[in-house]
Amino acid sequence: MTTMSFNDFAAARLLHVLAIVLWIGGVAMVTTVILPAARRGPADRGIALFEAVERRFARQARLTTLLAGVSGFYLTYRLQAWDRFLEPTYWWMHAMVLVWGIFTLMLFVLEPLVLHRHFQRRAEADPQGVLRIMQRAHWVLLALSLIAAAGAVAGSHGGILDF
Ligand code: HEM
Repeated sequence: MTTMSFNDFAAARLLHVLAIVLWIGGVAMVTTVILPAARRGPADRGIALFEAVERRFARQARLTTLLAGVSGFYLTYRLQAWDRFLEPTYWWMHAMVLVWGIFTLMLFVLEPLVLHRHFQRRAEADPQGVLRIMQRAHWVLLALSLIAAAGAVAGSHGGILDF
């Protein structure tokens, strides 16, 4: 007879990866579709489109970032893998925490408290310039996120390149 058991590690990894898919997938959509569309045509309409999309996405991203962080730290705890942070070969653990930290700071602190007001004011004078800065910042965040995700997938089950 087979007995059923609950594998909390596998469940946490599943939640972790689903949160990442929704979160980073959304960042890719904003970077490669919404912002280029917003930069076409009249810049003030572009700002309005970006604002409308990003406000809704930011709400989702706060939730998925939180879920990714909680599940990520739970995985680290279950693996008792804290000493990985002392090993350069586990650079992808640092990359995950770095990406998570940047987004957490942006979504929970800088954007609501400082950046939103700052860019709103700047957009009145130079909407095209603000969209350009947004585009650049999103490319940087997307690139870092993909490096972290690729490193985690390639590194956690034996690297493609092992040092
Ligand atoms: C606080 C932040 C985070 C922590 C503490 C964390 C920790 C972890 C841990 C411990 C694992 C399991 C690794 C293993 O099985 O050896 C994991 C898996 C994974 N993480 Fe994170 N993570 C965090 C954020 C992120 C972010 C921001 C991304 C992507 C941008 C990411 C992508 C992944 C992926 C794709 C896996 C699955 C790897 C696989 O099993 O193939 N994580 N994470």
